[in-house]
Amino acid sequence: MALKDINFDEIKGVAKDVAGKVGEAAHDTVEKLKRKDILTAPFMVEMIRTATNMYDHGWDERNGGNISLMVDEAELTDYLDLTQVIREIPTGFDAPTLDGKYFLVTGTGKYFKNVQYAPEVNLGLIRIKDSGRTAELLWGYTDGGKFTSELPAHLMSHAARLEVNPENRVVMHCHPGNLLAMTYVHTLDEKAFTRTLWQMCTECIVVFPEGVNVLPWMLCGTNSIGEATAEKMKTARLVVWSQHGIYGSGKDLDETFGLIETAEKAAEIYMKIAHLPLLNTITDEDMWLLCDRFELTPREGYLAPRQA
Ligand code: 13P
Ligand code: ZN
Repeated sequence: MALKDINFDEIKGVAKDVAGKVGEAAHDTVEKLKRKDILTAPFMVEMIRTATNMYDHGWDERNGGNISLMVDEAELTDYLDLTQVIREIPTGFDAPTLDGKYFLVTGTGKYFKNVQYAPEVNLGLIRIKDSGRTAELLWGYTDGGKFTSELPAHLMSHAARLEVNPENRVVMHCHPGNLLAMTYVHTLDEKAFTRTLWQMCTECIVVFPEGVNVLPWMLCGTNSIGEATAEKMKTARLVVWSQHGIYGSGKDLDETFGLIETAEKAAEIYMKIAHLPLLNTITDEDMWLLCDRFELTPREGYLAPRQA
């Protein structure tokens, strides 16, 4: 071929394309190398510790219980390429206010006891879109699994709590034995249930002055129980599911764990003493003193008016 027959423009174009692709690949590789291991992210470490701790407390037999933790985009960018969606999973409900939000969520059918050994199988990181109808999987559920069957109750509760407290980040569900037992032998009236818990340990009213709300037995995993739970979450961070377990919410995993832990301790005392003659209790006047001491307002109408 003569030199004049060579199309230098074409060669230049191809060379430019190749250089561009090599540049992009190099950039991607550098970005990947710069990215940190998500298993070392503080939110991930805390999630794994919490699931393990809940299992150790006996609250999460088999696959019982589920956790969702809202994570800010800024907490993720060091660890994940947020443009890489692994797969899309329909949620089956609407949650319009949560579009664009990220949640680290336990997987359905997964055992809390195993979270620490295989977090990438038992947990997943999702981003919500389409008015809540779709979850984009960005990390986790590596065995092809998906988020908890209780996602409706979780996401609807997140939306409800964020209205009350923009700092809310966690929704947690589990099956603590004494709270569960209490729903078989105690009236499910919310005021009476709350007052009994408050009377069982001095610090209960301090930890949950808004009390606990209570749902009757309902079919779990449905949008209906999700809607009912979210409605109850508007007025309290704890919602008892009768003959099933409890939901808690809070600004972080520690606060939420602590709420459930405190209510469960109170229920434990109740189950120890309910069949015995009651000789002493914490009176409403005592509880007003606690409210003064800790500068808090108890749920309106739950304590007898103060004596003058
Ligand atoms: P998942 O395994 O779907 O999270 O369900 C557990 C549970 O506790 C249902 O209420
Ligand atoms: Zn459950």
